[in-house]
Amino acid sequence: KVVAVIMVGGPTKGTRFRPLSFNTPEPLFALAGQPMVHHTISACKRIKNLAQIFLIGFYEEREFALYASSISSELRVPVRYLKEDKPHGSAGGLYYFRDIIMEDSPSHIFLLNCDVCCNFPLPDMLEAHMRYGGMGTLLVIKVSAESANQFGELVADQVTNELLHYTEKPETFVSDLINCGVYVFTPEIFDAIQDVSSHRQDRANLRLMSSFEALQSATRSLPKDFVRLDQDILSPLAGKKQLYTYETTDFWEQIKTPGISLKCSGLYLAQFRYTSPHLLASGDGTENATIVGDVYIHPSAKVHPTAKIGPNVSISANVRIAAGVRLISCIILDDVEIQENAVVLHSIVGWKSSLGKWSRVQAEGDYNAKLGVTILGEAVTVEDEVVVINSIVLPHKTLNVSVQEEIIL
Ligand code: GDD
Repeated sequence: KVVAVIMVGGPTKGTRFRPLSFNTPEPLFALAGQPMVHHTISACKRIKNLAQIFLIGFYEEREFALYASSISSELRVPVRYLKEDKPHGSAGGLYYFRDIIMEDSPSHIFLLNCDVCCNFPLPDMLEAHMRYGGMGTLLVIKVSAESANQFGELVADQVTNELLHYTEKPETFVSDLINCGVYVFTPEIFDAIQDVSSHRQDRANLRLMSSFEALQSATRSLPKDFVRLDQDILSPLAGKKQLYTYETTDFWEQIKTPGISLKCSGLYLAQFRYTSPHLLASGDGTENATIVGDVYIHPSAKVHPTAKIGPNVSISANVRIAAGVRLISCIILDDVEIQENAVVLHSIVGWKSSLGKWSRVQAEGDYNAKLGVTILGEAVTVEDEVVVINSIVLPHKTLNVSVQEEIIL
């Protein structure tokens, strides 16, 4: 048997996702019309002999427990939310729930970061992992040398694929091969995490005995149950024939800002062509709007037949789109109203917002630039004929004059 664990983190991580994370936890933010974690869960479904999927995080119990039960019945796969009382780090969180994770005595454990967007080649990774015969296999990818330092940089043996060297977010360049945040382990990973925390305890005790000054520094160091997978496990175990790499050449992104999430929404929509074509709008039939490229429209949304939509557009529940509206490369969240002849381009429109007649909400579409995608928070009103360009608007604002390159607080 195999189990999968998805690390969803907690509310503190969501700050970089503002203004879209005020009311919705980042893992439940809709990409291609489905919560971010939905894509990870569907990918896990492709693993043979999958017994359980666990979501581990420190978000409120209620919201995630509810989501876990609804996705369990929707995808017919058991999903359970395990809530930490406080953050334990990416490896500490896994260790904290080891007894529950090991209940069915799985032979392998997948571990996935929730904030990555890729095609998750999990069955291929498992096959490679069994061939290598190590304790763990990491999904890795080549990125540009300039962007590599935002991730774990690593060196792998070109023949055996063994992980030879690992440094988390180094200041000086090591390698353009990086850690994708997707792993498969044997249950020995729990012993490795246990070792880190008992060594840390020993060192703390030693310092305690030596001097008062040392005592102060010991209390400043990390608590013994806080273990980071990258720095505390991957770095020290590199080059010890226990960790191996599996390289993907397909798409991969870390979903760290709302701007990137628009790009990821497009990547997942494109993937639907192969995995879930029924979710893509077809535009067939006389009463339907004109559809261009990959588009998702929630069944409860009302779209006027003279509207033109796509490519890369995702429209959530209860959205109303009036005559003559043009939508290109955008995410329209629940309960938004877009009135006659408005245009939305390279933007995310927050829940319950309303765009007036002939208004324009747009950006250049540079996903990595701070204002490269226009973002309207929840319940923003853009009045008739107002133009919003390359801007971020916080929730509950009303715009009655046009703005450009602004953050409206
Ligand atoms: N449950 C729980 N508890 N989850 C956590 C905790 C915790 O205490 N701390 C982090 N996480 C989750 C995050 O939500 C995220 O999904 C994942 O663990 C990794 O988060 P970080 O440890 O903050 O690392 P990062 O996102 O900056 O970078 C990691 O991922 C990159 C790939 O996306 C590193 O492993 C990098 O090397 C890697 O390139």
